[in-house]
Amino acid sequence: MNIKEIINKKRLNKELTKEEISYAVNGFVDGSVADYQMSALLMAITINGMTFLETLNLTDCMLKSGEILDLSKIDGTVVDKHSTGGIGDKVTIILAPLLASLGIKVAKMSGRGLGYTGGTIDKLEGIDGFNVSLDEDKFINQVNNINMAITQATANLDIADKKIYALRDVTATVDSIALIASSIMSKKLASNADLIVIDVKVGKGALMKTKKDAIKLAHYLIDIGKNYNKKVICILTNMNQPLGYYIGNKLEIKESIEALKGEGAKDLMEVVYSIASIIISNVKNISLKEAYELAHTNIENKKAYQSFKKFVKEQGGNLDKFKIDANYVDIISDKTGYISEIDALEIGKISLNLGAGRLNKNDNIDYNVGIQLLKKVNDRVKKGEVLGRIYYNSENFDFNDLKKCFKFSDHKVNCETIYGKIDA
Ligand code: URA
Repeated sequence: MNIKEIINKKRLNKELTKEEISYAVNGFVDGSVADYQMSALLMAITINGMTFLETLNLTDCMLKSGEILDLSKIDGTVVDKHSTGGIGDKVTIILAPLLASLGIKVAKMSGRGLGYTGGTIDKLEGIDGFNVSLDEDKFINQVNNINMAITQATANLDIADKKIYALRDVTATVDSIALIASSIMSKKLASNADLIVIDVKVGKGALMKTKKDAIKLAHYLIDIGKNYNKKVICILTNMNQPLGYYIGNKLEIKESIEALKGEGAKDLMEVVYSIASIIISNVKNISLKEAYELAHTNIENKKAYQSFKKFVKEQGGNLDKFKIDANYVDIISDKTGYISEIDALEIGKISLNLGAGRLNKNDNIDYNVGIQLLKKVNDRVKKGEVLGRIYYNSENFDFNDLKKCFKFSDHKVNCETIYGKIDA
């Protein structure tokens, strides 16, 4: 067996065996398969796809490239939530304390943002003193003590994904269903929670541009989980416009705090409540309606907010000093009408250029900058009203870029936030 033959087989759109996949993945991890060879294989996979069996075998090889977390010391059902990535997606920061306030154990390993989509770890790092690198003992103890912990994945978990993802990011091979499914599931299986809920984002600002592709990805994720006796539930949600009103690391923490105090944006809270209801109903064995009531009550009575404060304190963060340190400028509408579209991808790009995101893994980010939307899809706007606000620390933007993200119509458009749930 050699890597050239394996690349050629996939180039000819033939199914790879488990041994061939393992040869490529293990070789890439130990350095005997070079970056350029792995890049060629990833491109052949992106163009020709992989069968479910190939994707399952790829997931297994990636999972076994590192350690698997032992969560047996946590009492009760442990849940994990993942998003395929979106613009303004701060759901984890609201959802995890909400679940914790209801006695549900959330053990979450999160990532940093890369490209236009943000990452939970970067957002939390915007809180002064917040520790995003918990060791395994601290992680487990904290989940046992306060029902939740969020940390960045340790270096020895899913080593293959770290190397492969970095290569995919610079070789235009990110948006392959097989590669996304194996990347997500190898990480989730290594983090080893009992119940995994995955928010598959669909639309302009998401990896999956169509519902058809999102449904295919969801089935791959669920079926991979089944092979490891892990329950995976997917929810498909709209990522054509950014989620909520704020995009940017500290701005999204500010919005999460408002949401936890009961003042969350409608679309944001729809996603939070939908995922919370699915998790609560599964863990507590109650109906979705009863689960929703529990979630809603704990937002209204601020118990979820109390859990968030406990979580921040436990990980060394200080909310007293929390403030957005940036200049801002308003973008004024020169039209009257209903907003029919706010281009999530373009907003992500503007936010990246402002310094909120990174193009390369080691780039520094500015936690304070970003965008606030003052209008959302289907809001009525009059000429002269403020559409959005840019928070900046360097003049690296053009007002017109943000203005161009807003499209107008003389009537309201169909805009649902939740497309549906896909279960085993
Ligand atoms: N999220 C992941 O963890 N991996 C991917 O490949 C895409 C989104």
